[in-house]
Amino acid sequence: MKENQSEAVRLATGLALVGGAALAVHSLLIEPSWVEVSYPTFRLPDLPPFWEGRRVVHLTDLHYGNPRSEPLFRWMVNTVNQLDPDLILITGDFIQDLWRYVEPCVRHLAGLRSRFGVVGVLGDHDFKRLPARHVGGGKHPESRSIRYTPIGGLAEALDSVGIRILRNESVELEGGLRLAGVDPKTERTDCADLEVALACSPATPHLLLSHSPDLIGEASARGIPAILAGHTHGGQVVVPFYGPPVTHTHTGRAHASGWSERGRTQMYTTRGLTSHYSLRLFCRPEIAVFELHRPADPWPDLPA
Ligand SMILES: [Fe+2]
Ligand SMILES: [Fe+2]
Repeated sequence: MKENQSEAVRLATGLALVGGAALAVHSLLIEPSWVEVSYPTFRLPDLPPFWEGRRVVHLTDLHYGNPRSEPLFRWMVNTVNQLDPDLILITGDFIQDLWRYVEPCVRHLAGLRSRFGVVGVLGDHDFKRLPARHVGGGKHPESRSIRYTPIGGLAEALDSVGIRILRNESVELEGGLRLAGVDPKTERTDCADLEVALACSPATPHLLLSHSPDLIGEASARGIPAILAGHTHGGQVVVPFYGPPVTHTHTGRAHASGWSERGRTQMYTTRGLTSHYSLRLFCRPEIAVFELHRPADPWPDLPA
């Protein structure tokens, strides 16, 4: 009887070790490179007819800055171009914190092709925080907005290859599609100014680009119908029947990935291409490909 019991314990221990090793190999070596190209449909009220049925590729959290970046960026640019997009939108974390990554990152992204351009916003890892002594000891009235600055002229470098970076501003594209974009509001950076971004547009934007999903409440209060976000990486590790324990947002698991809504605002949070450390479990990297459509009956059941 005792022998049978110890045999069972040995078997269970062996299975647990094999399972643990398989899970470790999968989460460290396989899933981080197993990018899903997803195809959600975006229904935008007041979508200009010119944009009906057009294809938008959403990239986020590229994090150039590790040995895998070179082949991954080559694959990404090639894959996105084969999708034949009308528009490419990028919601930040282009690089991983260091200025030396700006040049190779931008060099790769210069190869992206789309009919109506590439527009993006910066993420928290694209910024550096200036020491307080550089901003009047933090007492300068504008110290919050000037305390963070993009690393190594990243925004200008991206602009130079045709990638328009919206820094608390709005733009109207050909065919009347209005986009707004804000600097990142995360636990590391606090530079988003939606009021300023909207002030330069004659009408409410159709779509807001925000690195973090945390802006959903503010965007909803201002009547913005749709947001594209990233930053969470989907949590990177998702516990079955629970979700991701870590999202690096104030809103937690609610907006970690995929569709969510607040009032009349809908948001899609894409899980991102990669991250600064190679770990993904039940949370594959993602490139989202949207087809834009007008809803047949916009917001029929939602309260005003
Ligand atoms: Fe990120
Ligand atoms: Fe981020």
